[in-house]
Amino acid sequence: MELGKTRESQAIRRHLIDVVRSGRADLVADACERFGITRQAVHRHLTHLIRQGFLEAAGTTRGRTYRLGPNRRQTGTYALGAIAEDRVYASDFAYLVDGLGKNVQDIWHYGFTEMLNNAIDHSAGTRVVIVAQRDDESLLLRIWDDGEGIFKRIARLLDLADPREAILELSKGKLTTDPENHTGEGIFFTSRAFDFFRITAGDLAFSHSEESDNDFLVHLQGATGGTLLTMILSPTTQRTLASVFNEYTDADTLDFSKTVVPVRLALYEGVALVSRSQAKRIMNRVERFRNVLLDFAGVDMVGRSFVDEIFRVFARNHPQVAIKPVNMSPAVQKEVDRVLGSDAAATP
Ligand SMILES: Nc1ncnc2c1ncn2[C@@H]1O[C@H](COP(=O)(O)OP(=O)(O)O)[C@@H](O)[C@H]1O
Ligand SMILES: [Mg+2]
Repeated sequence: MELGKTRESQAIRRHLIDVVRSGRADLVADACERFGITRQAVHRHLTHLIRQGFLEAAGTTRGRTYRLGPNRRQTGTYALGAIAEDRVYASDFAYLVDGLGKNVQDIWHYGFTEMLNNAIDHSAGTRVVIVAQRDDESLLLRIWDDGEGIFKRIARLLDLADPREAILELSKGKLTTDPENHTGEGIFFTSRAFDFFRITAGDLAFSHSEESDNDFLVHLQGATGGTLLTMILSPTTQRTLASVFNEYTDADTLDFSKTVVPVRLALYEGVALVSRSQAKRIMNRVERFRNVLLDFAGVDMVGRSFVDEIFRVFARNHPQVAIKPVNMSPAVQKEVDRVLGSDAAATP
């Protein structure tokens, strides 16, 4: 009984919000008729929605008008074969960022359409569930498809031995399993445009946090079917999409020419980074960039062969790629200096 009542209340409140959103008049009369309830009951729901921040009221009792409040929530389930990302965005999710800064709207639009397009084009699933929420502190977006799962799919199509390698590859950018139709930029730029970005699939999760500027690979207890994206953005962020693009793009050619490789993502073997094959995995595909920052944050030490493979062998074979190590521990710095030093000594 109670549950039925709660459901009905939710449906009424959802409807009231939708009517306010659409700008239709005679909100109260419409709800009375549709749900067979009294005017007082409708007003109780409206008061509740105002208290919760979903609606705001203006004017006196008779001429009262309502508009959307600072809190917004929208959920939807869509059949993947039947939707286009820009349409779903415009009809159901753009209003969440109404009234916020243009830079926030641009980031929200970009992340939403890129990630929903991924579900449509890559997931091989049938359905997608989208949940979006806004309050004073944050904008939250979740997009969950019921497809193959991103890490498995990348590992399968790119012939990687382990789905965890897919995470390392994704973090570098320019990774696509469909080069005919895609460029492999969506996840790289979306993860950097939002404050927090996470992909969960199977028992693996890949997160990127702009604040700590870190990428993480996490092993989960349970398993997520399909692919779940979680994105969080501050509604008052000053970040712009252009600044994110500029950071990794060549000013003249507009080419996506720079990347950051989080070296710690190759640590999953549980052992230290010592071998040439580990180094090769880290440098896989990075010759597509002109500037490569190797981020050693979270890496305490490295072995000689590993360092030699990157800073001497790879560097010699790819002179057009500028490799810059950052966030090195003293032990890592020492090994890198040693190889760079001996290489410099050997080349006049
Ligand atoms: N929802 C998803 N399900 C399965 N695989 C996905 C999903 N989203 C992305 N991928 C995989 O991740 C790759 C990178 O995605 P992205 O960075 O958006 O680049 P692009 O879409 O240009 O290929 C895709 O090529 C695809 O292999
Ligand atoms: Mg994409």
